[in-house]
Amino acid sequence: MKGNACVLLSAFAIITVVECKHPNNVCKTFPDYYTRLTNRHCWYNPDVTAEAPQLVLSHGYQLELYEVITEDFYILQVFRIPPKNKNNKGIVFLQHPSLGSCANWIDLGNVSLAFLLADAGYDVWMGNARGNKYSNKHVYLSPNSNEYWNHSFHEMGLYDFPAQFDLVRKQTGYKNKINLISHSMGATSAFVYASLRPQHASENIKLFICWTPVAYMKETSPIAKIVAPFTNLLMFIVERLNLMNLAPPNGLMHSILKLLCTKIPWTMELCVLARGTLGGYNPKSFLPERLPLIIYQNFAGMSAKAYAHYGQIISAGGRFQFYDYGNKLNRLYYHSVNPPLYPIKNIKIPMSFMYGQKDILADEKDVLNFYNKLPIEARYGVKKIDGYVHLDFQYGKDVEKIVFNCTINILDQFRSVNSTK
Ligand SMILES: *[C@@H]1O[C@H](CO)[C@@H](O)[C@H](O)[C@H]1NC(C)=O
Ligand SMILES: *[C@@H]1O[C@H](CO)[C@@H](O)[C@H](O)[C@H]1NC(C)=O
Ligand SMILES: *[C@@H]1O[C@H](CO)[C@@H](O)[C@H](O)[C@H]1NC(C)=O
Repeated sequence: MKGNACVLLSAFAIITVVECKHPNNVCKTFPDYYTRLTNRHCWYNPDVTAEAPQLVLSHGYQLELYEVITEDFYILQVFRIPPKNKNNKGIVFLQHPSLGSCANWIDLGNVSLAFLLADAGYDVWMGNARGNKYSNKHVYLSPNSNEYWNHSFHEMGLYDFPAQFDLVRKQTGYKNKINLISHSMGATSAFVYASLRPQHASENIKLFICWTPVAYMKETSPIAKIVAPFTNLLMFIVERLNLMNLAPPNGLMHSILKLLCTKIPWTMELCVLARGTLGGYNPKSFLPERLPLIIYQNFAGMSAKAYAHYGQIISAGGRFQFYDYGNKLNRLYYHSVNPPLYPIKNIKIPMSFMYGQKDILADEKDVLNFYNKLPIEARYGVKKIDGYVHLDFQYGKDVEKIVFNCTINILDQFRSVNSTK
């Protein structure tokens, strides 16, 4: 009896020590999470809670950090994994989706896209859109003010991209143009950029690879369509409650999500289902071990106005249009009652689209309809990924084999075809 108690006690002590040092935080299946601390199908993944610089350095890559000021005085931080030798294959710039940050490109361990690109010989740069936790400064606005959060993907495309690309070109001596890879909202802002700053885009961009591009939203997810008509009301409430930053890292909302979506197995499954109502859910491509990573690394700050802008696009029948300020201000800003469409006929740089067959947010019909409206010189190809949903492009099972490898192949191929340019 005494011996047993002793064994039990020391076992408890060992578990406690393990729990203090690095408690298992990820598991292979949801049921495994019930016994996460002792289950052998669970382990400790330090990348779940790591900050972006740590993610780069801990995997043995070099890191350079830059700051750049946009035309409207937002201060952005740009990350670079410098090439190992001078003879690199060219520049790749990665732009994250909404809620995320540059961490999205480096949080899958040694198969993260940024590391695979660096290994393949590319000079890798990672942007951070205004408002995320690595780009949360402004020359004179407080990041807690409504003025600071008065931006959507429109400003990210119009101001953040030119500033970041100018920085990259300057730092690399204007030798090579930039390959841009962007996901979801990163692609939306890239369309804003390429249609409103076509000259800048032609001078600086070689190729755009757009994952799950969101622009036309006629067929988008039912839940988004249900919420969209309430956009103005929701924005009114959000402004009054001072929630213009919808996803402040480590705020109350994030703490609740961390509890429900990384600790309690049955609510974790609800989190996955809830997330699926927006972008689609395919249990075959979802890995439960990645849910904690998703929750920690995708709550980096996010402007409510960007979602309002999407909501307006949905309410307007999926038109890819400027922000709607209401009749009076629209007349002032746009000289018309309705907000104008983005002039996508101006887009002249080659674009390669990749989308998921089961994505309900960037629906196949909308993606193809948008692609086919682009000028012929901008249409460099479309690839459908079978079984994939919206966020599988970041965290799906075998994403490195299915999406990353294909992306690198497109870059390599474009490079060899255009090596004389
Ligand atoms: C990543 O690391 C794992 C485990 O160490 C290894 O088996 C795998 O080959 C590595 N993959 C790449 C692309 O380096
Ligand atoms: C946001 O910007 C618009 C357009 O410039 C302006 O009309 C509006 O008053 C601004 N709102 C805030 C809170 O700054
Ligand atoms: C990645 O693509 C290359 C070139 O097409 C191919 O040879 C290789 O087998 C692919 N790797 C994986 C893991 O799919």
